Formats: sequence, structure tokens, C-alpha cells
Amino acid sequence: MSKRLSEISYSLIDFFEDDDHSETETFHEYTKLNRTNAMLIARRVEAIMSDRALVGMMARSWKTYPGAPRVQLPAFVPPEVSYADVVLRRRSVSSLGRNFVEGPITLEQLSALFRLAYAPTTTLSSPNGETQQLRSTVSAGALYPTELYVAAFDTEGLEKGLYHYRPVDHALEFIRAGDLRNEFSNVSSYTDLCRSASAAIIMTSVLKRTLSKYLHRGYRFAMYDCGALIQSLYLAGTAMNMDTCAVGGIYDDELAAFIGTSPVDEPVQLAFLVGPYGGRLAAAGGPQ
Ligand SMILES: Cc1cc2nc3c(=O)[nH]c(=O)nc-3n(C[C@H](O)[C@H](O)[C@H](O)COP(=O)(O)O)c2cc1C
Repeated sequence: MSKRLSEISYSLIDFFEDDDHSETETFHEYTKLNRTNAMLIARRVEAIMSDRALVGMMARSWKTYPGAPRVQLPAFVPPEVSYADVVLRRRSVSSLGRNFVEGPITLEQLSALFRLAYAPTTTLSSPNGETQQLRSTVSAGALYPTELYVAAFDTEGLEKGLYHYRPVDHALEFIRAGDLRNEFSNVSSYTDLCRSASAAIIMTSVLKRTLSKYLHRGYRFAMYDCGALIQSLYLAGTAMNMDTCAVGGIYDDELAAFIGTSPVDEPVQLAFLVGPYGGRLAAAGGPQ
């Protein structure tokens, strides 16, 4: 190692340099693009793109609950806030050192959250007549493996219960009714934080939607998609005057059981909490 390189320090991780990360490293190796698997993926993409039925299936990338009652979400009224204001005001309530303040959010706020973060925003037509909807958040290959659910604890205009978001109609599909606040907060290691929220958005990945096109590399793409969507939810929630917080501290399989998805085919990724805006005690900092 050159003298210059040996002086580089990663600070904190130097303390844990004896840890075994081999499983993560193996996983990462399997998801790398190289000249061999790039050809395999390219052949797959070509096979898909030349088959009209497959292209159609890929374009219909949303889960459906056949026969479930639907709640049409209210029309979107764009908030009058600047992008800069939203970015500078965005915060996780946990980093403000408190839980969510008590009170409901409105169905209009919840609707706008979905509209700004994950609803279709345009339609592309291919020369062979297929249409493909593109949404407000990016997705690798426009496959949209992420599905969104909402556990509504205290939302004005919405019966308490669990719903699935149906982007194509900007509607909620009703899964089950009930006051789910305690049940939900018990599947998190952040019980009090979760119990204080007005609603929890639960994010899952239909992994095969991405894996079937991009093979092992598709796993990374599904995670990138989640990351992009997390930030979109934060910004949309802030723009709609809500407090926000992502929660990775969830017991995966217990949360999958809570929403009723397969922990293997559609594993949960994260919960995203919202509640009424509770203000900012700390002054905005950062470079000017
Ligand atoms: C993937 C992810 C998981 C997170 N999980 C939690 C969590 O379990 N509990 C929590 O209090 N905050 C969680 N957060 C919020 C972060 O701790 C927070 O973003 C970070 O402290 C920076 O604060 P800020 O969001 O206010 O800028 C999570 C954020 C992300 C992106």
C-alpha cells in the first residue's frame, strides 16, 4: 500500500476492523455487474422487450386486491411552498428529540403524500401500442417493485384500519378495519414513537418484479428504489405540513404478518410515520 493510502482513516470503523462482514461482502459480489452477467441481463431485457405480452405485464407493475372496497383519494391541491423551504425544513421527529404531537392528519394530506411520492405523473406510449405509466419517484427500469400500505390510526375522513395504495387509480384498497395503533407499534423497536404517529406507511418490495429482469443485481435496484421513495415521502410529508420519520427499527416478519404479505416474496422494508406538524424548536443550521 502506498504511504498516501495507508494514511487514510475511516474513523469509527477502524475500531471494529476485526468484525466479520463476509456475508455482506459475498452478497455484494453477487450483485455486481460484470462483463459476463451483463450479457445475460442484456439477453433477458431483449427477450422481454421483444415480447408484447411481457412488456404489457412489466408495465402493469402494481399489486391488486381483487374485490376489495376502494376509497378514492381526494383531488390533489398543490401546496404553496418552495422546494428550498421543504428541503431545509425536512426533519425526522426523532432527531428533534421528541415523538409526534397528538392529533389527526387529514385525508387530503395523506392523499397528497401518495400523489407527490408515488402516483403516476405521465404516460409513455411505445410504438407497438403499449402504455407505461411513470411515477413521481424514480424506479430502476420503471418496474416499481415497492408497494405501499397505510395503517391509519387517526386520519380525518378515513376509517381506522389497514389499506393498500393503488397508484393507477390513486385510491386505497381496504384490507381490514380496526384501531391498529398498539398492534403496529408492538412490531417496532420504537414502540412509543410509532404509537404517537397518526398514520404509518409500510413499504414492501415485490422482489421478483425487479429480479426477473435484472437477476441478482435487481436486489440492489429494489433497495435503491426504496431509498429514493423514502426521501420523496419525507419531502412530500414536509410540503404537506406534516411531521415525518422513517423507521427501520421494525421486526420484519412480524410487520409482514401485520399487513398480511409473504415475508419472502414481498418482504417489508421500512415504516414511514406521519403526524401533524409540531414545529421546530431548533433553529435551522447548516452552511449558508
Ligand atoms: C433507512 C432509514 C431508517 C431509519 N430508521 C429510523 C428508526 O428506526 N428510528 C428513528 O428514530 N429514526 C430512523 N431514521 C431517521 C434517521 O435517524 C434520521 O434520518 C437521521 O437521524 C438524520 O436526521 P434527519 O432525518 O432529521 O435529517 C431512519 C432513516 C432512514 C433513512
